[in-house]
Amino acid sequence: MNTPVSSPALPSLASPTGGLPSSVRWAQLILADRLRPGDVVVDATMGNGHDTLFLSQCVSPGGHVHAFDVQTTALEETRKRVPAETSTLYLAGHETMREKLPSELRGQIAAIMFNLGYLPGSDKSCITRTETTLAALAQAIDLMKPGGILTLAVYPGHEGGAEESREIAKWMAELDSRGFEVQHLRPVNRSAAPPELWTIWKTIPMKK
Ligand SMILES: C[S@@+](CC[C@H](N)C(=O)[O-])C[C@H]1O[C@@H](n2cnc3c(N)ncnc32)[C@H](O)[C@@H]1O
Repeated sequence: MNTPVSSPALPSLASPTGGLPSSVRWAQLILADRLRPGDVVVDATMGNGHDTLFLSQCVSPGGHVHAFDVQTTALEETRKRVPAETSTLYLAGHETMREKLPSELRGQIAAIMFNLGYLPGSDKSCITRTETTLAALAQAIDLMKPGGILTLAVYPGHEGGAEESREIAKWMAELDSRGFEVQHLRPVNRSAAPPELWTIWKTIPMKK
């Protein structure tokens, strides 16, 4: 009788190849560590809904995800994965998030997740753009609560991605260190331009 050969279990922080976690995986690890049931969060680029689903699992029960995308297919795919009770899907650019979110949520958002670029398996010309990405970031840090987290995965390798990545780096470097902690994670020994991750933590004011 053949004994089944089981492959060794991957470490929980590994990528699917067993290597280091991808940018998106790092983002998920940070968010999963900090989010709590009942939190209200934003997925700024819903795409196929994987991140929306992840976020809704982190904040359930009782929490809610507000998710944005400019493509109808993104909303359709996401709705298949995430129930309406736990999510509101906006067919709108993330640069409108301040206008679209209920005003009582201003300063209350526990996390905002950006995963830039194009929708996998779809029109590669529909990508995030520097100008709207920066506008959305400015609104996002305002909407976050003290102690809130923003993650942003950026793909410098695709067309327009290098410029978007450079401008994001400048914008991040100018954030006031008294209001925000900012970290940047990127692979350094690859010739291609692999995805990078930015993380912002909004500081909690000290009690006087
Ligand atoms: C890399 S995909 C996101 C992947 C997604 N988070 C997932 O889990 O499948 C990037 C998405 O950003 C969307 N996008 C492009 N411009 C946008 C904008 N101004 N506002 C919101 N989403 C935008 C694209 O349509 C695409 O679906």
